[in-house]
Amino acid sequence: MADNYLGNKMEEHLARQQAGKAPKASRSLNQLFLENRSQRSYDNRCVVSENQLRRIVEVNTKIPSARNQQVLRFRLVTGQQAEKLSGMIRLGGALPELHLPQPGHAPNAYIVICATVEESHYVDIDLGISAQSMLLKAVDMGLNGICIGAFDKTAVTEALQLPLQPLLLIGIGKGEEQIRLKEVAEGDSLKYYREDGIHYVPKIQTKDLII
Ligand SMILES: Cc1cc2nc3c(=O)[nH]c(=O)nc-3n(C[C@H](O)[C@H](O)[C@H](O)COP(=O)(O)O)c2cc1C
Repeated sequence: MADNYLGNKMEEHLARQQAGKAPKASRSLNQLFLENRSQRSYDNRCVVSENQLRRIVEVNTKIPSARNQQVLRFRLVTGQQAEKLSGMIRLGGALPELHLPQPGHAPNAYIVICATVEESHYVDIDLGISAQSMLLKAVDMGLNGICIGAFDKTAVTEALQLPLQPLLLIGIGKGEEQIRLKEVAEGDSLKYYREDGIHYVPKIQTKDLII
């Protein structure tokens, strides 16, 4: 393997795939990352089931965890309880004039992420890994989602009678927004914005990310 045989084979395969000459089993990882955009408006004709949420939470049985402590726990919320929760969240803090989510277009399902221990550096890292893994799984299943940190913790705890403190909500549904990434240079505004019905998300280029 000294001549990087496997590495070269992989490069060749990727090049063939990019040229459309190799079959794709499913969406590429890159495609999943691109499609995994934070959706703030949902088509509620698509109703997310508790079973779908269960499949999303299942990714947590396969991901890293600090000291493998697996302190995160999840409450699945659908139906009327989800409707209630939609009144306790704030979406699109950078676009307050849009008052998101608009009535009838909030996510119709949520995963509430809690922890069995007090929030800490490692709990928060586990939280991020879990949230992103679940969002990617949702996209893989043809759904969309968004991390929601702006919610009324007391109201959510009471409404769901949670035995643990909620750290983050994941809203799940069928997104209906057109969202595009926009490469920006270091120092440019990172505020997301809308133009002609399209939601643009500025992202820093790789060359500026590397220090
Ligand atoms: C930890 C975390 C909390 C977030 N909380 C909110 C929120 O409360 N409301 C909201 O509209 N978006 C929230 N977002 C979504 C971000 O605004 C979004 O990731 C960012 O605008 C980039 O867009 P993208 O996810 O499509 O790349 C949150 C994202 C993360 C990672």
